[in-house]
Amino acid sequence: MSQCRILVIHGPNLNLLGDRQPEVYGAVTLEQVNKEISALADELGVEVVTVQSNFEGQIVEAIQDARTTVNAIVINPGAYTHTSIAIRDAIEAVQVPVIEVHLSNIYQRESFRHQSHVSPVAVGQICGFGVTSYLLGLRAAAQVAGAGHP
Ligand code: DQA
Repeated sequence: MSQCRILVIHGPNLNLLGDRQPEVYGAVTLEQVNKEISALADELGVEVVTVQSNFEGQIVEAIQDARTTVNAIVINPGAYTHTSIAIRDAIEAVQVPVIEVHLSNIYQRESFRHQSHVSPVAVGQICGFGVTSYLLGLRAAAQVAGAGHP
C-alpha cells in the first residue's frame, strides 16, 4: 500500500441521515457527510473509501476485506454498537486500527446505548459532535495509520 487508505463504515439507518430524528442526528444527509469526509481526506492526503450497510454480515465482511487493503477503519456501527459481538470479533480478528464514532453522545441517551461492544477493541471512541465526530475520527485514523500500520 503506497498511499494511506482509510475505510469509513456507516452502519444501519445512517442512510436516512437528514430525515432521521434531526434533533438527535442533525440535518445533514449521508451524502453531505461523505463529501465533508472526502474534502478532509484530500487535505490530509489520505485515500478514503466509504460504505454504508444496514446488514450486520455485510459490515463484518467489509471489516474482513479491509484486512489487507486499508491502514485504518473509521466506523459508526449505529445500533450494532450495542448488540453486535460479530462486529467486535471481526475488528479483533483483522488487527486493523479502528476508530469508533457516533454523531450523538450515546452516554447522554437511553441506558441501552451506554454499552459499546466495539469500544474495547477500538483504538478510541469519539461521540457527540455530529458530523465533526467523523472528521475527528478521520484525523485520528490518519494519525494512527501514519504511526506505522501495517
Ligand atoms: C449512533 C448512536 C446509536 O445508538 C444509534 O443506534 C445510531 C446512531 C450515532 O451516530 O449517534 O444508529 O451510532
